[in-house]
Amino acid sequence: MFSKKMEEAFNAQINAEFYSEYLYLAMKSHFEELHLNGFANWFGVQVQEEHAHGMGMYDYVHERGGKINLAAIEKPELKGDDTVAIFEQVLEHEQLVTSKINGLVDVAEAEHDRAALSFLDWYIKEQVEEEANVRQLLATLKLIGEDKKALLMLDRELAARTFVAPVIG
Ligand code: FEO
Repeated sequence: MFSKKMEEAFNAQINAEFYSEYLYLAMKSHFEELHLNGFANWFGVQVQEEHAHGMGMYDYVHERGGKINLAAIEKPELKGDDTVAIFEQVLEHEQLVTSKINGLVDVAEAEHDRAALSFLDWYIKEQVEEEANVRQLLATLKLIGEDKKALLMLDRELAARTFVAPVIG
């Protein structure tokens, strides 16, 4: 039995995942406009991952016999335009997503929905990985500081990132 409360909580999280996709698309365009194509590629992969996260939940709601209610996606705003500020925003955003996933787990616990709890395990692990990746990149960027040559080397490294479709659940 998939409760109304679970359905609402999943729909809210689907919106948050698609907002993440949109936010990272805005960041991708920022780096494309600067011709930092490696950074743009890194955000392009983020866009695809967030889309997969949203669709994973979308499919799950249907699998459980629930209804999808798509809501408006908020306009994404970049808080700063230097690279460190952007990655600080990414980390802050991923921490917010982690707290939202934890909130969804709280609802599943309150509803005694063991199936949803088991499904959400994947998202809990994914958030640990997402936060760790961003924390690592942020630390590297802080070390690089104003060194343009090192920034271009990192840009080249980020150009190699590829999207691997996740197996969710
Ligand atoms: Fe879907 Fe980056 O969390």
